[in-house]
This record gives sequence, structure tokens and C-alpha cells, in this order.
Amino acid sequence: MNQVYLNGEFLPAEQAKISPMDRGFLFGDGVYEVIPSYNGKMVGFEPHINRLNNGLKELKIQLSTQLQDWRTLCEKLLSLNSSGNLGIYIQVSRGADTKRSHAYPQGISPTVFAFTFEIPAAPVADINNARTAKVITTTDRRWQRCHIKSTSLLGNVMHYQQGVEHSANETLLFDQSDYLTEASSSNVFIVKNRHIVTPPLSTALLPGITRQLILDILRMHSEYRVSEAQISKTDVLNADEVWLTSSSKELMPVIQVDDTLINSGIPGEIWQQAQALYSKHKFDY
Ligand code: PDD
Repeated sequence: MNQVYLNGEFLPAEQAKISPMDRGFLFGDGVYEVIPSYNGKMVGFEPHINRLNNGLKELKIQLSTQLQDWRTLCEKLLSLNSSGNLGIYIQVSRGADTKRSHAYPQGISPTVFAFTFEIPAAPVADINNARTAKVITTTDRRWQRCHIKSTSLLGNVMHYQQGVEHSANETLLFDQSDYLTEASSSNVFIVKNRHIVTPPLSTALLPGITRQLILDILRMHSEYRVSEAQISKTDVLNADEVWLTSSSKELMPVIQVDDTLINSGIPGEIWQQAQALYSKHKFDY
């Protein structure tokens, strides 16, 4: 049985109970992280915890858990659950109140919940055996604080579902000026004339850990020109390659955007090189 963590205790999933008055349930008032691990080794542990702390700060949720405490917690959770490829989901909500009131209540303790779930094997950098994606495009209709990894994900969920209803794996989101922000559950990179580009960080997108690791790894270990710059819808449709990135996908080649095939529907060579570099260096972070 899946062992989970709830407020200081490790216990079987079906015994973990929280109050229906929890503000995570009533308001989506909380933040979360998903940390990938392979045979017990986590990828990007510190940057994930730093992003969690940034979110808690923005929401003014006070939690004394330190980096080392998080590490101990995650390692224990991994050891209690089957080894292999596991994502660690961590959620911190503001906690349970006695009434429903919008204002942040004083004197309640945050609810800290964590569990593991199986993730696919890490992708192999092989054009002929790549997991690929078809995506659709739409206007980003989420809120203006997308840099916070909030559990209030309805905007993302609705955009993701739009993709599902068009038999696509993801939905690329464009702002009012038709510039790319990200996708409903991933960041996005394009390649044009061997130049690798991803949108710059802002409140319009999540500062993805995979995104940052890819930028760092490519800048340190490749000769490619890598930029953070605005990308229009035309740029995406005319790109030589398009990639989705996230903790579970790593780098996933997009082979179709709406009705347009990218690179004739085949994963690109630069994707293969970038994924190979990512596979080699991801545990350095
Ligand atoms: N999704 N953008 C959004 C909106 C996301 O939800 C995610 C991750 C990313 C990629 O971030 P990272 O590289 O840190 O995983 C970008 C997670 C995995 C999820 O909600 O399940």
C-alpha cells in the first residue's frame, strides 16, 4: 500500500485524512511541487524546494521546514514506497480553519501532504524511439500569477482538457499579443536555424525547474546559442523544432502544432542532442 506523509506522520494512503474546512480544499489556497526520482535519486531537489519556498512566501504561509528536513522527508517517502521511477508530490496548504472566510486566518497550521506516484522511465535520446506530442494552440485564459505553483489549477486543467478533446497531448498558450507563455502543464522551447529559444520568465509562466536545468546544461555543455526571448505564434508554426519540458517529460519533441507538422513530423536532431545532455547531467542539480 502506498505510504504517504501527512503533517508529521508517515501512514498508508487510505488512513490519511484532512478536514473539509482545509483552505486547500475550499480555496485552492496552497502550493505544490512534483520532484522526479529514478531509483531513489531525485532530480533538481534544491531548486524544487526553493521554488516551493518562494510560493509560500508569496502566499504568506509560514512553515519552518528547512531544506534538510524536506530531503529527509522525501528520502523516507521514497524508501517506504517501491523503488523505480517515482514522482514525489508535495503540497502545502494554508491549513484548516473553523469557518470559510476569504481573509488569511491567523494562528492555523499549514497542512503538509506528500505522496509518491509512478512516472514513466526517463526518455531516451533516440529519434526513432521518442515519445512525441501533438499540441493545439489557444489564448491563455488563466490568471496573472502563473509564476506561483499554486494548487488552484482549474485554468490549467481546462486548457489541458481542450487539448484532450482535440486528441492532442498538450495545449500551447499565447497571451493577448499572441506571444507564447507556456503550455498547460509544461514549458516550451523552439529551435530555429540552430538557435534555441524559450520565453523569458515573468508572472505569465511557471519558472519550470526542467526549463532552468536545460538552459544551464545547454549553456555549459553545448555550443548552441540559447536565448530567453519572446516567441510569436508564427515563430512556433515556422520552427524547425518545438519541445515541451517538465519534470516528468524532460524534453518531449512536438511533431504537430494544430494542423502544421513540425520537422515533417519527426523529432529533431537538436532535441536528441539536448535530451542526451540532459540525461547525462540532470543529477548534477
Ligand atoms: N507541471 N508549466 C506548468 C503550468 C506546469 O504545471 C509545469 C509542471 C511546468 C514544468 O515545470 P517543471 O519543469 O518544474 O516540472 C511548466 C507539473 C509536473 C504538474 O503539474 O504535474
